[in-house]
Amino acid sequence: MANSKYEYVKSFEVQDEVMPPNLVLVRIKTRDFRRFSQVHEFEVPNDEKALNLMNSCATAVLEEYPDIVFAYGFCDEYSFIFKKQTKFYQRRGSKILSLIVSFFTSVYATKWKDFFPHQDLRYPPSFQSHIICCASMEVLQRAHSGGKNSTEKRKEVKLNLPLIIFSQVIAETNMILVFGCWSNVEMLKGTQKQEKNELLFQRFGINYKKLPNMFRQGSCVLKTEASSLNLFLLLVEEIVKYNDNDTPVIRPRRKVIIIHLENIAARNFWNAQLCLVKELGCFRQEMNKIKPEYVKSFQFENKLMPFTWIVVRIDGCHFHRFSEVHQFEKPNDEQALNLMNSCAVAVVEELNDVVFAYGVSDEYSFVLKKDSELYQRRASDIVSAVVSLFTSIYVMRWKEFFPQKDLKYSPYFDGRAVCYPSSTILRDYLAWRQVDCHINNQYNTCFWMLVKSGKRKIEAQSYLKGTQTKEKNELLIRQFGIAYDTLPVMFRLGSSIFQDE
Ligand code: GTP
Ligand code: MG
Repeated sequence: MANSKYEYVKSFEVQDEVMPPNLVLVRIKTRDFRRFSQVHEFEVPNDEKALNLMNSCATAVLEEYPDIVFAYGFCDEYSFIFKKQTKFYQRRGSKILSLIVSFFTSVYATKWKDFFPHQDLRYPPSFQSHIICCASMEVLQRAHSGGKNSTEKRKEVKLNLPLIIFSQVIAETNMILVFGCWSNVEMLKGTQKQEKNELLFQRFGINYKKLPNMFRQGSCVLKTEASSLNLFLLLVEEIVKYNDNDTPVIRPRRKVIIIHLENIAARNFWNAQLCLVKELGCFRQEMNKIKPEYVKSFQFENKLMPFTWIVVRIDGCHFHRFSEVHQFEKPNDEQALNLMNSCAVAVVEELNDVVFAYGVSDEYSFVLKKDSELYQRRASDIVSAVVSLFTSIYVMRWKEFFPQKDLKYSPYFDGRAVCYPSSTILRDYLAWRQVDCHINNQYNTCFWMLVKSGKRKIEAQSYLKGTQTKEKNELLIRQFGIAYDTLPVMFRLGSSIFQDE
């Protein structure tokens, strides 16, 4: 990003990393699943295709991010755990939760047709995500130290993944409840698991234990650890990145598998998975009796300061590569920018509290009104809703803007929310983004004109090094007959969106 006098606004951005050695867990949930499932006529209580689509998205997440070692999902939610030592984006909460939710959404929208070939997506699916900071073995060990002998200490130490395990308990309870709801909710009040099972059998002839495992137990996604016996079976070759000259770098990766388990809190399951033991630690106790209050204590909510302007800025991830792969025109692709604008308009229309949006290149800033109470100002809900919605619309509208080009892979964005206390500072924030747009665009226009005229990229770079605005304008006129100020205003100054009353 370019330097300008407005850069001071960056100091309003706050740090939000999950401190090690706590484990980072990201939980994703569909926004208004009731409506989404009704509109898309999902079968109740479980739609196998919808669950398989969720599983397929989770698998894609584990394949994309090597640091995620385990995921558990049921119904409309999925939870992802990062390995203990992860340094993924410096463990910044907002970055992580937005990236994962955006990638998940993008894959969901892209793969929809594979799972529902005869049904169109009637509106963009979107998800919300949260970070949960799980106490790891080390944290608990420290908390338990003092006054006890080592055997006692060892007994108490357990790997603490309450949310994941609690989710499975909910999965099962929900399942039984939903079946029951068809008849009479009153009948179910206060009933125990066994009674519900009997009720299902007597009234509906359903043997609960015979229902598909995926429905009853949810799905676990994990990476296999190759042992000497199955080395060749479990390693797959994958492109991990691209070199500067666009040649792929291929490395062997662990294979991602999906399994359904009666009890993911069981020691014998966790401790048998080399990958989980290595990256997360091992279970010393069964973790079945978990109370909801205990789980809730791990969720921290970052509420954004009241009566401040909230700005959610989203930015395309690795769009340098995305624009190369999809052959965007350089330096500006009008259709790509129109697509970004169209997504932003849809977000402004959907979220009433967004009063202004400003976009340039692969980024968009959404300004929420000062007294907004959207999601009670919870940062993760706001950021994830905006980034997920935007991503979903981007994928769904791609063909409208690029009828001749297929989406080669799922694009995704990251997001953050920052509070600005006064309208002057908010204006400076927007000015900062616009100055950035101007400086980058002017530079890129000169750079690509030089390259198109035969200069090598490195030559064009050194040619432009240290040049000021005036010199760049002169260069464009002198060498290429281009008056910079006559170029499309969208390229030079970015795009603004607001409701016209
Ligand atoms: P991260 O955001 O850090 O993941 O990296 P990034 O690759 O997305 O780069 P950054 O956000 O800093 O900059 C956006 C990049 O997207 C630009 O450098 C361009 O390479 C590309 N891009 C955005 N808009 C256009 C466009 O209209 N045409 C072309 N050709 N490229 C574009
Ligand atoms: Mg970017």
